[in-house]
Amino acid sequence: MKFDTKVVRAGISPDPTTGAVVPPIYQTATYVLEEVGKDKGFDYTRSTNPTRQTLETQLAAIEGGKHGICFSSGMASVDSCMKLLKAGDHVVCSDDVYGGVSRHFNKVLTRYGLSFSYVDSCNPSKVKEAVRAETKMLWVETPTNPLLKVTDIEAMAKIAKEHGLIFGVDSTFATPVYLRPLELGADIAMHSTTKYLSGHNQLIGGVVITNRQDIADEMKFIQKTIGAVPSPFDCWLTMLGLKTLHLRMARHSSNAQIVAEFLEAHPKVERVTYPGLASHPQHAIAKAQMSGFSGMISFELVGGIASGKTVMNSVKLCALAESLGAVETMITHPATMTHVEVPREDRLARGLTDGLVRISVGIEDAEDIVDDLRQALDKA
Ligand SMILES: Cc1ncc(COP(=O)(O)O)c(C=O)c1O
Repeated sequence: MKFDTKVVRAGISPDPTTGAVVPPIYQTATYVLEEVGKDKGFDYTRSTNPTRQTLETQLAAIEGGKHGICFSSGMASVDSCMKLLKAGDHVVCSDDVYGGVSRHFNKVLTRYGLSFSYVDSCNPSKVKEAVRAETKMLWVETPTNPLLKVTDIEAMAKIAKEHGLIFGVDSTFATPVYLRPLELGADIAMHSTTKYLSGHNQLIGGVVITNRQDIADEMKFIQKTIGAVPSPFDCWLTMLGLKTLHLRMARHSSNAQIVAEFLEAHPKVERVTYPGLASHPQHAIAKAQMSGFSGMISFELVGGIASGKTVMNSVKLCALAESLGAVETMITHPATMTHVEVPREDRLARGLTDGLVRISVGIEDAEDIVDDLRQALDKA
């Protein structure tokens, strides 16, 4: 099956009872046993649910993996991956991971004896230097949120193999349409399905995909034991959203290229970061390992905080919202929105400058998005 066919059809077959094209939602907590010790493969929805199972099969097939394990959020997926570790273990992690991930690592998981080193994973020698005797995992996000740094996955897989580390990739921004980390040597591909995979701002969810039987067994155990599972309805909505993933991504990507080129030429914009621009510092790696550049752009406004606020308050079509990866274009100003509580020095140290703006380019007409940004930038 070719990739686009898998997106539409993999894991989905007509309902055996009625022939329904769309699999039904099994909205049930439990299942009646035929007799003691004899069930139909399902006993309790925290452990297994047919709707979730369909989605897990579909997601694994698209990612090119054997096992998919779904969770109630992207954060629950990240947390479950970390539950593969034990007190005393150390993780080497990309330095520009989504802020919710570093908050979880630093403020929650350190309480349980895990430790983390944040390094620029665009530089393999920095990653190598950070590995210690107690390092058990390498955790990479590519492209990163919000600075869109791109990491060479094959180079990371080599380091992970040399040191016996579990290698996980948060591939939320790229999606399996443009990047399949397992094919490049990762042990785990993880997504916040809240974003492109479900695609319509309709739910919160996450998934972990792996080819390793040992990791799959452990993740399923963690899934049923901790219970951070998505509802059958959310699984069903994700399943429907997924069927158009390849079409949506093509439009997100072509629109983003147009918007990035417009911004790069605009006098009120100091710098644009988009993996599809030749000016992106890791453009060559992005081009080699991704088949498209997705829909996320960040850019630096001339005029810092004041300009940022003006642009945010002037956009009409672009939605002032914190999420990403949905059909609507969404715009965020980290200094006044997502990172407003982070002390300025810490924010700047992470490269989150006062004039930094992140756009999740939607699938509207590119001309309308550009016109909206132009009128907002004119006011900055
Ligand atoms: C790259 C990345 N990973 C993980 C997450 C967390 O996902 P969720 O919001 O579904 O918990 C996010 C959320 O923005 C993200 O951008």
